[in-house]
Order: sequence, then C-alpha cells, then structure tokens
Amino acid sequence: MNQDDIKPNILVIHGPNLNMLGKREPEIYGKTTLDEINSDLENLGKKLGIFIETFQSNHEGAIIEKIQEAAATQKGIIINPAAYTHTSIAIRDALIALDIPIIEIHISNIYKREPFRHKSLISDIVTAQISGLGIKGYSIALKALAKII
Ligand code: DQA
Repeated sequence: MNQDDIKPNILVIHGPNLNMLGKREPEIYGKTTLDEINSDLENLGKKLGIFIETFQSNHEGAIIEKIQEAAATQKGIIINPAAYTHTSIAIRDALIALDIPIIEIHISNIYKREPFRHKSLISDIVTAQISGLGIKGYSIALKALAKII
C-alpha cells in the first residue's frame, strides 16, 4: 500500500461546458482554465494530506456513474453541476444516495443571474453551497471538506 492509498480521497466533479473555462464568457467565469483549477486543487490537497481526483463531463449519465462509484472510494465531493444544477433530478438522486459530505459550488452567483439559474435542484440535499466567489470557491470548499472529513 502506498501513501496515496491511506490518504482520504475527495472527488471534484465539473459539469458541462466547464472544460471551456478560460475561453467561455470570461466576464462571468474569469480567465482561469479548468486544468489550472484542477492543479491548484491537487497542490492544496497535497498540503492538506488529501488525494484529489478530478472529473469533468458534458454528459449527465457519465456524471451520475462517477457519483455512484464515489460511494465506495471517496470521503467527500465538491461538485459544480453547471447547467445540470437547474435541470437534473437524476444527479440529485445520485447524490442523495451517498453518505458523505458534498459541497455544491458555482463560480458565479447564480442568484444574481437569470431567473432560471436561481433554482438549484441539489441545494437542499448538499452539506453546503458556495456561489459567487469565483474560482476561489473551489479552494474554500476543499479546506472546508478537509475539516469536515
Ligand atoms: C455555473 C452556473 C450555472 O448556471 C451555469 O450553467 C454554469 C456554471 C457556475 O459555476 O457559476 O455552467 O454552475
């Protein structure tokens, strides 16, 4: 067994279109790319003694399968479901089945935007939600989870 096997694992899930961060609506989401966000989280994870797994998909089913697998392997989840936040009962159902802390994150403040973004289908079943702190929200979520797990 190597060191990584005994570290707690946290899974970071990025939903649809977040692979386009840096290019996509930079006035809303900033110029940082998803790779930069992931490597910052991995570095912070090393400092906190936590192994970080990152996953991005544009497909609802792939995200659901990843959440289902997490039950056996992960100690916590950080998830930005992106547009699926507002539409996916299936992602909500997959998350409810888990018994680990979950932090929902949005780069933008979804409550300051179009009315269809004001409703999150997971906000009432997650441990906490961070919305509107930009990409800083990811490291804040990781530090919070490190204290919880
Ligand atoms: C988002 C907000 C969602 O409404 C949007 O569909 C996204 C990103 C955010 O991080 O601010 O893709 O989740």
